[in-house]
Amino acid sequence: MSAATVRVHAPGRVNLIGDHTDYMGGPVLPMAVHLGTTVVGTRGGGVVELRSDLEPDPVVLSLPAPDPTTVEPRWGRYVAGAAVELGATEGFTGTVTSTVPPGSGLSSSSALTVAVCLALGATGTHAELAVAARAAEVRANGVPCGIMDQLCSVAGVEGHALLIDCDAMTVDPVPVPEDACIWVVPSGQQRQLADSAYAERRARCEDAAALVGPLPAASLDAVEAIEDPVVRARARHVRSESGRVLAAADALRVGDLAELGRLMVASHRSLAQDFEVSTPVLDELVEGLLATPGVYGARLTGAGFGGCVVALARPGVELDGWHVRPAAGATVEIGGAE
Ligand code: GLA
Repeated sequence: MSAATVRVHAPGRVNLIGDHTDYMGGPVLPMAVHLGTTVVGTRGGGVVELRSDLEPDPVVLSLPAPDPTTVEPRWGRYVAGAAVELGATEGFTGTVTSTVPPGSGLSSSSALTVAVCLALGATGTHAELAVAARAAEVRANGVPCGIMDQLCSVAGVEGHALLIDCDAMTVDPVPVPEDACIWVVPSGQQRQLADSAYAERRARCEDAAALVGPLPAASLDAVEAIEDPVVRARARHVRSESGRVLAAADALRVGDLAELGRLMVASHRSLAQDFEVSTPVLDELVEGLLATPGVYGARLTGAGFGGCVVALARPGVELDGWHVRPAAGATVEIGGAE
């Protein structure tokens, strides 16, 4: 008997505002985008075999999958991370195609991991799927990331950004007005030392939370009283960014794009000064965009240390990047026998 064709699509994401808040249980406001990763194939057998249009070498893994950190080619680590996390015993043979530009900062790794989890048969609520995909990514690359990228890819809503409470793992879709054009502009700067610096930032935030309690709701006085200046600055960013995210969602709801742009700029400054994850290249790119007529706001997006800037602009403005549209979350279609 021939197996049914499984077709999975998982979108990339861009974060409008709320960086380095997710792993501290704060709010974020990302949106799933119309660019994503598609996996097509059939389930069965004891081997996962995938070819990608972006990669020269295929991934071939016998189940149970090996330690993901030993897998080559490297993109196979995300495949192995998913297989190990799910305890997969049924294989999958197919192809991976992606419209997420490599290195674009649109979270191609989460799109791939979510797609592979679903192709391997993962089921559950949006939160459960996101938790599994996040754990798979941590197995693959060791970076202690938060839940934003995976939950956004799973739970995206067409035409909407998602106000996510990363503590409760609830998702509140917020309509993106037609006249709000979202651009992702690459800095050309590869992320440097991103993985170790990310873990270090997270550790300082945890130091702060041990002193003053959960940072998104911490008292400002308590934050300012933290003795260590570095821990204090990291905590100040998470506290202030959490407030900006809620204000940004309100601004988006009423279509106040000037206010949303202002909050994005304040977010960039906080990420640069208090969280120290910007670079001179990102700062210059943001300043250049802010000097461009029709741009309401711009900020680094994602982890920082290079990568991309997200900009909010009027219709008709052309920037040197990708104009992204808010899209639906991941889908699974199971078709007829091949
Ligand atoms: C990366 C992580 C996310 C989040 C951002 C910063 O994209 O994967 O979980 O922490 O950085 O906001």
